[in-house]
Amino acid sequence: EKGNHRHFMAKEIYEQPEVVGHTLTQYLDMAGGTVRLPFGDKIDWKSLSRLTISACGTSYYAGLVAKYWFEKLARLPVEIDVASEFRYREAPLPDQGLALFVSQSGETADTLAGLRYARQNGQAILSVVNVPTSTIARESDAVAQTLAGPEIGVASTKAFVCQLAVFASLALAAARARGTLSAQDEAGHVQHLISLPGLMARALELEPEIEKLARELSKAKDVLYLGRGTSFPLALEGALKLKEISYIHAEGYAAGELKHGPIALIDEDMPVIVVAPHDTLYEKTVSNMQEVAARGGRIILITDAKGAAECGIEPEATIVMPEMDPTFAPIVYALPIQMIAYQTAVFMGKDVDQPRNLAKSVTVE
Ligand code: F6R
Repeated sequence: EKGNHRHFMAKEIYEQPEVVGHTLTQYLDMAGGTVRLPFGDKIDWKSLSRLTISACGTSYYAGLVAKYWFEKLARLPVEIDVASEFRYREAPLPDQGLALFVSQSGETADTLAGLRYARQNGQAILSVVNVPTSTIARESDAVAQTLAGPEIGVASTKAFVCQLAVFASLALAAARARGTLSAQDEAGHVQHLISLPGLMARALELEPEIEKLARELSKAKDVLYLGRGTSFPLALEGALKLKEISYIHAEGYAAGELKHGPIALIDEDMPVIVVAPHDTLYEKTVSNMQEVAARGGRIILITDAKGAAECGIEPEATIVMPEMDPTFAPIVYALPIQMIAYQTAVFMGKDVDQPRNLAKSVTVE
């Protein structure tokens, strides 16, 4: 049931603080300030040579965020590819390798085929799924469940943020096991994770501002999304969400790639949405924004108060997010990204829960 909401997608966007909180209770010992995985010691993080991640669509973008976390926090090398490529490219897989498959439904044909390829090639199999009875879950050695509850809207929202919450926990567990994270730093990260649902609730309060933005965006033929670091996968996710429900063409790019091609597209008709919390890469992203501004581009900046103060240009609009530790910020910055797509599609009168040509679960390749 949709409750007070017009669409399942809106209901699911608003449920996110609660479902992320619920998911985290299964992965954290909140009082002890430690990570506690529900599947115990099934994965020997310490002896892993490499992690291979594969998935499709939004689940793939969650995996892309996870790559940054596993590499930085746990110093674990990560390979990642979309499942439709991974399953056929005959990739050599390492000894002591772990393969990780991400799927809301647990039934996506390409992801399942990738899992079977990894199994045949000697990998231990971990899956992050929302449906625990699914085929992918049944064929895995260990299952990390996302507790998002049933997701009805075709465009994935709450499953994505729960996947991110699980990945944050897994990366911290891996880091502890591999000796790259002190108990004190673990406790600090756990505190930040615990604060996320509250920060997400505050991000949802930005909806009226985003609604105003949507009117402008609805006139665009193309939209460019830019981000660096973990904001890069969010740029990809923002573009995917916008195109699938509003049918406006959108592209996500790593901000540093701007001058290698997409800068040619910049004009006063194409909005550029920049995802940039005030983190260590912020200054780099500022210089990309200046390049856009110098060519008359229209910038919509998603940042925090510090970022807004230091951006050095006058964006057409700024979405000011609450201050937070940057490491797990994507779990909160996903929300304005989703709301932008949702509000734009609703303003244009599109059927956001049932976008044309799309199915909730893709069980054929
Ligand atoms: C986008 C979306 C799709 C799915 C993809 C994978 O909003 O929902 O891109 O993420 O089809 O589906 P699962 O996660 O069920 O494997």
